[in-house]
Amino acid sequence: MQDFRNLAWHVSDVHGQYSYTNPHADLYLYLSQWSDMESYLNVGYSRLGQYHLQTATHLRLIDRLADGMVALHSVSPQPHERRLLDVAAGRGGAAIRARQKYWLEVVGVDITPYNANRATLNAHEQHAAPWVKFNLGSADRLPFANESLPLVWSIESPAHFPDKPAFLREVSRVLKPGGIFTLADLLVVESVALANRQIYADFMETWDVPYLETVESYQTALAAAGLELRRMEIVTQYNLDILNRDCWLFLQLSKPKWLYNSYKKFLKWRTGANLDNVYRHVLASHRALQLGMIDYGLFWAVKV
Ligand SMILES: C[S@@+](CC[C@H](N)C(=O)[O-])C[C@H]1O[C@@H](n2cnc3c(N)ncnc32)[C@H](O)[C@@H]1O
Repeated sequence: MQDFRNLAWHVSDVHGQYSYTNPHADLYLYLSQWSDMESYLNVGYSRLGQYHLQTATHLRLIDRLADGMVALHSVSPQPHERRLLDVAAGRGGAAIRARQKYWLEVVGVDITPYNANRATLNAHEQHAAPWVKFNLGSADRLPFANESLPLVWSIESPAHFPDKPAFLREVSRVLKPGGIFTLADLLVVESVALANRQIYADFMETWDVPYLETVESYQTALAAAGLELRRMEIVTQYNLDILNRDCWLFLQLSKPKWLYNSYKKFLKWRTGANLDNVYRHVLASHRALQLGMIDYGLFWAVKV
């Protein structure tokens, strides 16, 4: 799907979404009523019976990725090295979790100044500094020497990267031989997107993504970068399907005009979010998700 791109995309859209300066950021203000969006910016992971709209949801996703990574690391050539690079670390919640639960030393890089600053503040507030640090940096030029790190992960961020195979080559460059790479990302289901191009275009525009990989194109790109896939899970039913259900409920509750208008005033007062922007975000997401157009994949690979 590299050839079917969001041509209007610009990296400043990503900054806007994560700095509260474009209308897409209103979704995070809205979600902040239930979850700590100043620490976590991923859709999380919930099994049947687990309540989804809360901070623990993000931690479940992070732990699932970390457990698989740590298991592979324990049989790697450098099992006692503790350094993890978090590419596009957002507001730092995942990196801090990697310290507090897995005793890793984490360096996070992110392209959005607001997020890198927020992550640094969070690390200090949660006593994770100096073992957890954050810098400004871009995924296509990681500020690390060749073969210098035992662990790299990137959680739900590559969707925003304009050249994901180039990013994977960068990961491979900085990883030591036998080092572990863990990835969580949105994936497009090609046949559905090609049959519903406008809905896919609207989804990409709403989430400020230039394009999405398919599960197959990710597998090809990982192999081409010298990253041998060891395990993969499609976990759509544990996050995006739940998001889709919540989107549906939101849209149903938005139907009575009086309710929408009262809630709009309340939301503005409580969070600063404009409900009209949230509505557009939810609608574009629901249209794509209900068709099964977007999957969510977890990947664990080893640098060969
Ligand atoms: C959905 S958030 C995920 C953040 C974090 N991994 C988490 O799980 O909370 C995506 C992040 O990717 C960052 N980002 C987008 N493009 C980037 C790039 N080219 N290089 C580095 N960071 C980038 C954004 O600034 C944002 O913080």
